[in-house]
Amino acid sequence: MESISSYMQQDHVVIDGIAERALAAAEARDWAALARDAAEFLRRLRQHIEVEEKVLFPAFEQRTGMSAAGPSVQMREEHQQMQPILAQMQAAAAAQDGAGYQRATKALLDILMPHNQKEEQMMYPMLDEALGEDAQALLADAKKVLV
Ligand SMILES: [Fe+2]
Ligand SMILES: [Fe+2]
Repeated sequence: MESISSYMQQDHVVIDGIAERALAAAEARDWAALARDAAEFLRRLRQHIEVEEKVLFPAFEQRTGMSAAGPSVQMREEHQQMQPILAQMQAAAAAQDGAGYQRATKALLDILMPHNQKEEQMMYPMLDEALGEDAQALLADAKKVLV
């Protein structure tokens, strides 16, 4: 059976791949590709964060009572740290500023890579564990957002 862990981890892999394509487009100064891939990256990552914050983390917090402090609180804080950088990436892509896009991507990856690792090693497994048999229903709710 598919777990929340495996599904969300796979979504990280897909989003990482789009980030690499956008970065390559920025390096190649291929503005049409950058516009397309940056938009796709930002859409997918924002959607991923939304499903975590609106569907997965609330269910975790409800089950465990860990809502004032705990892993989901830290993950939300890191999402907040990403927001201004995502805006910079969007602005750089719109301005056809390849160097700016590359700089912003590197700044984002400094937060996103360890963040994803923490989710994969801690947050998602704790979610599967806390949800037990209800993990499948929650995953179905998550998939409705991730389209
Ligand atoms: Fe996250
Ligand atoms: Fe995530």
